[in-house]
Amino acid sequence: MILVTGGAGFIGANFVLDWLASSDEALINLDKLTYAGNPDNLSSLEGDDRHQLILGDICDREQVNELLARHQPRAIVHFAAESHVDRSIHGPADFIRTNVDGTFSLLEAARAYHEGLSGTDKTNFRFLHISTDEVFGTLSPADPPFSETTPFAPNSPYSASKAASDHLVRAWYHTYGLPVLTTHCSNNYGPLQFPEKLVPLMIANALAAKPLPVYGDGRQIRDWLYVGDHCSAIRRVLAEGKPGETYNIGGWNEKANIDVVHTLCDLLDELAPGKQAHHRLITHVTDRPGHDRRYAIDARKIERELGWHPAETFETGMRKTVQWYLANQTWVRKVQSGDYLQWIDKNYQQRHGSEA
Ligand code: NAD
Ligand code: TYD
Repeated sequence: MILVTGGAGFIGANFVLDWLASSDEALINLDKLTYAGNPDNLSSLEGDDRHQLILGDICDREQVNELLARHQPRAIVHFAAESHVDRSIHGPADFIRTNVDGTFSLLEAARAYHEGLSGTDKTNFRFLHISTDEVFGTLSPADPPFSETTPFAPNSPYSASKAASDHLVRAWYHTYGLPVLTTHCSNNYGPLQFPEKLVPLMIANALAAKPLPVYGDGRQIRDWLYVGDHCSAIRRVLAEGKPGETYNIGGWNEKANIDVVHTLCDLLDELAPGKQAHHRLITHVTDRPGHDRRYAIDARKIERELGWHPAETFETGMRKTVQWYLANQTWVRKVQSGDYLQWIDKNYQQRHGSEA
């Protein structure tokens, strides 16, 4: 069996569902259920004894030690994190606690557990750390995409905290021989993403005929990957990745934010036509401080060494995503309460807007 952290969040839940759809290997899912963690994401697994959701914090060493001793996993796949850049700007402390202290604590628990293993259990054990392309900082238009050897240059509290955790993971390999793997993935989109991130926020606002808040000129570039493709890459790295190595994951889909929003508006005009064309809701608002201009991933290493490549194109992935949100409006409405409403007020109230 394997231990997953943060498996009730967006990517973690997609990973858990994909894992159990393609394997019978059981999975323990340790999640603190912060605002971003949602047990409803896993409701289709009710009664499935291959999956156990454990409420807990990766910073709680005793709890993690106890879980490792009891379940004896062959691998840890570490998704748990505070993950939203805008929230990290408003309140960085939680990012340092979970992403840095939490990863440190998990590494120490994994190290003690790994040292107690023997034979093939010890050789085959893996600690897979899920990181982000944001640790590499920002690119100019003519720069080549981020490769595995691009130096770290994080610019937001979120990316700085992820970079710090990546350094710890690397050091636990070199110093203690913990068999770690690290992945750096580009922006994900797809089902179950909390509607504070660009794609689901724009879909939710468009369906409610609310303004679509594009930061600054909207010409910032992200490299978009469908979440199911990220999950298949993680499975591949876990199965075949070489301990101590890092792998960049991306879909060769560089798009400006404004173009992503137009794609979503076009899909919504087709699949859920409103009284007016959705692009008329686009509003340019005050930019994010320290906003990285361009991310792009060079994914040749994982393709060459592990034979992975994405199954979805930007067009097929975005269509599936919009269809999922249209078919799951109850899920969206349920998460748009309490903390969500406070966050929307905090993040958008002071941004001045002008229509496109
Ligand atoms: P998310 O915010 O949707 O989910 C995070 C999950 O971690 C939630 O279920 C939350 O309850 C849990 N969690 C938070 N703090 C915890 C703690 N202290 N102990 C236990 N659980 C805790 O995040 P996501 O978008 O699914 O991202 C998952 C991972 O992938 C993160 O490490 C993130 O840095 C990385 N990543 C995300 C993207 C993206 O586009 N979303 C891209 C590349 C990498
Ligand atoms: P986001 O989904 O927050 O991911 P990240 O900051 O990790 O890349 O944002 C993606 C891009 O969209 C980023 O350049 C910021 C921009 N953005 C907006 O223009 N408006 C918004 O309301 C949000 C949430 C993001």
